Amino acid sequence: MKYVNLGNSGLKVSQVCLGSWHLPRLKERDEYGVLKVDVEETKKVVKIAFDQGINFIDTANRYHGAMTPVDFNHLGNAEKILGEVLKDYERESFVIATKVGGQMAQWVNGQGLSRKHIFWQIRESLRRLRLEYVDVYLIHVPDKETPPLETLMALNDLVKMGKVHYVGSSNLSPEEIISFMELSKEYKLSGFVTIQEVYNLINRTIELTKIPLARKYNFTVMAYSPLAQGILSEKYLKGIPEGSRATYSSGLRETLTKRDLKAIEELSEIAKEKGISLSQLAIAWILSKQKSLGINIVPIIGVSSSQQLVENIQALDVSLSDDEIKRTEEVASKIKL
Ligand SMILES: NC(=O)c1ccc[n+]([C@@H]2O[C@H](COP(=O)([O-])OP(=O)(O)OC[C@H]3O[C@@H](n4cnc5c(N)ncnc54)[C@H](OP(=O)(O)O)[C@@H]3O)[C@@H](O)[C@H]2O)c1
Repeated sequence: MKYVNLGNSGLKVSQVCLGSWHLPRLKERDEYGVLKVDVEETKKVVKIAFDQGINFIDTANRYHGAMTPVDFNHLGNAEKILGEVLKDYERESFVIATKVGGQMAQWVNGQGLSRKHIFWQIRESLRRLRLEYVDVYLIHVPDKETPPLETLMALNDLVKMGKVHYVGSSNLSPEEIISFMELSKEYKLSGFVTIQEVYNLINRTIELTKIPLARKYNFTVMAYSPLAQGILSEKYLKGIPEGSRATYSSGLRETLTKRDLKAIEELSEIAKEKGISLSQLAIAWILSKQKSLGINIVPIIGVSSSQQLVENIQALDVSLSDDEIKRTEEVASKIKL
C-alpha cells in the first residue's frame, strides 16, 4: 500500500479509503422494514482493508449503511457500527473521517454549520464511534445561512480541544471553498486539507471546477462514488440484480432506468482485454489521473461484500498506458448520467 500526505498536512493516509455510506447487508429487516447491516461481514471488510494496509475510513453522521435517503429513526447507524467494529483495533493505527452539516433532527438547529450544531454533532459522532477524537472532520453540505467564519472558528476550536485534528469540506461550491480558504488565511486558522467530491469516469465535472482549487490550495481530493454507485461494474448490464444497491435506492434506480448503458458494455470490453474487471478499470483510471491533474486523489471504495473489496483493491496493481486512458475516456464520454 502506498501512503500519501493528506493535503499539506503531515497526516499519512492510504492511497484508497474505505467508505461506509453503504455497508454489507442482511436480508433481514428491522421493525421499520429497513434492511439491517451485516455486522459480521462488515468486520470482515474492515479486517481485509486493514490487512491490506488501508488505514483511512470515511463515514458521516447521517449514514445508515443500508438505507438512502436516511430517515430520523436510522441516522447515525453507520457510525455506531464502525464504533463497534473499530473498538477491536488500535486507535492510533487508523485515520477516521466523518462529516457534519446534514439534517440530524427536526428542530431548527438540527442541521447546518452553526457553532451550536457542530458542537452537538461532534459529541454525538464521537459517542457513536466510541472515539475521543476524529482525525478529519468535514463539512458535508453547504449552509448558506451561517457565516463561514462562524463555521471555521467552531471547527478550529474543535481542533484546539483535540476533538478533531484536521478539517475538510464536501459538496461546497468553488466560491464557497475559496471563501473558507481565504478566511483561514486572513484569521490564521486551519483551512481544509481535503475536499471530498464525486469523481468517476462518468462524472468528471470537478476537473474543471474544483481540481484547479485542489492544485492551488494543495488539497487531497477524496473521490466519492468511484464506481458511480456500482454502474461502473458489470452488475447492471442485464437489469437490476437482487440485493444490489438499486433495489433499495430509488435515486440510483431512477438514474438506471433513464439511461442507455450500452457504453458500459464497451468499457467492460476494454477491461476484459486487459484481463481486469470494469470496477478495477474504473478505480485504476482515477488513480492514473493524479499524474496529469497534478494532485493526490484518494478514491473512497464502497463495498457490499468482502469479495468486492478484494476485487477492488487489486486495482492498485493495474497500470494504464496513455492510450488505454484515452480510449477508456472516449468510451466513457458517451455515457451521460
Ligand atoms: N461526501 C459525500 O457527499 C459522499 C457521497 C457519496 C459517497 N461518499 C463516500 O464515498 C464512499 C463511496 O461511495 P459509493 O458507495 O457510492 O462508491 P461506488 O464505488 O461508486 O459504489 C459502491 C457500490 O458499488 C457496488 N460495487 C462495489 N464494488 C463492486 C464490484 N467489484 N462489483 C460489483 N459491484 C460493486 C456495491 O453496491 P451493491 O450494493 O450494488 O453491491 C457498492 O456498495 C461512501 O461509502 C462514502 O463514504 C461521500
